[in-house]
Amino acid sequence: MPGLAQKKRKGEKIVMLTAYDFPTARLVDQSGADIVLVGDSLGMEELGFSTTIPVTLDMMVHHTAAVRRGTASALVLADMPFGTCTAGADDAVRHAVRLMQEGGANAVKIEGGAFLADTVRRVVQAGVPVMAHVGFTPQSVNQMGTRMQGKDEAGARQVMADAQALEEAGAFGLLLELIPPALAAQITQTLSVPTIGIGAGAECDGQVLVTSDLLDIKGGGYTPFKHVRQYAHIGDDILRALSAYGSDVRDKKFP
Ligand code: KIV
Repeated sequence: MPGLAQKKRKGEKIVMLTAYDFPTARLVDQSGADIVLVGDSLGMEELGFSTTIPVTLDMMVHHTAAVRRGTASALVLADMPFGTCTAGADDAVRHAVRLMQEGGANAVKIEGGAFLADTVRRVVQAGVPVMAHVGFTPQSVNQMGTRMQGKDEAGARQVMADAQALEEAGAFGLLLELIPPALAAQITQTLSVPTIGIGAGAECDGQVLVTSDLLDIKGGGYTPFKHVRQYAHIGDDILRALSAYGSDVRDKKFP
């Protein structure tokens, strides 16, 4: 991804936001974001699941295609959901090709560490650009919980080794989730490809937030993550508007 590599070289920050549908993709794209991520956070944010595990490839293809239709400029990056990369490289290539061919993604994101380096290499060789995702990887929530990774020396060495192996395998960028800021800074300096952080401090080459968290779509101002900054409280606004409509109908003020 030459544009993103250039931004890293020039020290310009990369902006990434999630979208799962056409109208949100249009807004994210119009905001000037560099990357619109069709994350498998789709499961929790849009479909009402409690984790990303139930999200299937068909769901990702469906939502990626909607985001594609709403996106004119940003790079459309689609998550490879749970189970699509761990049954061998041939399988992963087939799944990644569907996200590009049917979903219209420009690239895919693959969660996991050095153990997936050969798979990432094969997917890249098949013509699918890959962003790798290390540190806390939500698809492994049943093994790692929702915890910061790389906090002790061995853990930090592992995350660094994962990042280097995945860059070497051909990933065009790395998403660093929930790792100590100092480790994220060290990885960012070591790698020549850009890093995008979430809960990983300010020294990454770019930042990503889940759009519905940033907008407080659920309302009430609650967020389980310290790293989320809420720029609006859209959920409360929507609830006020819907309630006002209901009152007007009941009071015979509308139409
Ligand atoms: O699925 C997702 O939304 C993600 C976040 C870490 C941005 O991967």
